Amino acid sequence: MKVSAPIGVFDSGIGGLTVLRELMRLLPQEDTIYLGDTARVPYGIRSARVVNRYSLQNARFLLSQGIKLLVLACNTASATSLAYVQRALPVPVIGVIEPGARAALRASRSGRIGVVGTETTIRSKAYVKALKALEPSLKIFSQACPLFVPLAEEGWCSRDDQVALLVAERYLRPLRRQRIDTLVLGCTHYPLLRDAIAEVMGPQVVLIDSAAETARATAKLLKDMGLLRRRASGGRRSFFVTDSPQRFRALGRRFLGDGQVENVQLLEVMQ
Ligand code: DGL
Repeated sequence: MKVSAPIGVFDSGIGGLTVLRELMRLLPQEDTIYLGDTARVPYGIRSARVVNRYSLQNARFLLSQGIKLLVLACNTASATSLAYVQRALPVPVIGVIEPGARAALRASRSGRIGVVGTETTIRSKAYVKALKALEPSLKIFSQACPLFVPLAEEGWCSRDDQVALLVAERYLRPLRRQRIDTLVLGCTHYPLLRDAIAEVMGPQVVLIDSAAETARATAKLLKDMGLLRRRASGGRRSFFVTDSPQRFRALGRRFLGDGQVENVQLLEVMQ
């Protein structure tokens, strides 16, 4: 495997850019190829069988681009399809669940941890299993928050946005009652709502961003495998989407900042 090969990253759409942002911050020297499956988003309401099929197609496409490692930058795909994709690919594959679970365990003092994510992620119990595998005595409380995804895409996310606060209050009240001290943001979009979620949960609850933890896990794996690029910067980014590059470019600014989402190409997929 070549050290100079790119890292492949895929998500159901735009949200995985929160993971890419962290990868770019930590590994600015690495080339990346991002695939956003915008024609088939959302994955968060689909069955595991369908997400498996989409994930494998996405992974095979990125493999055909010569990647040295694949990051499943989608909590739903990681929750349902990580082992399936790992078995099928000859390169290492990292998901976002394990790194997020490890960070939550490190952060929690009381052992009472909340997890928020899409319906499919929560139904899969992937975070519960990952956390319990690390420490069986943990008490875990889960909540699906499907409306957070469109709120983040609409940009209604700030700490003083009344709609975001109302929605967050309604979803998160049961978790607050459980007196958790750590909350895993188990969906790619939720880091954008971090301020509103923090406002509702209060300062005593630590918010865990799986994206940042996944970037750290990726850096470590590349280093351990001797696949880390030595130069200090200069990584090239390219993007593929399965629908409307224009919309991806426009929304991408919200996730990655101005001028970062260039070179977006369209990839045709079957529905
Ligand atoms: N990327 C998905 C996740 O992290 C959220 C959007 C979707 O439902 O596809 O779970």
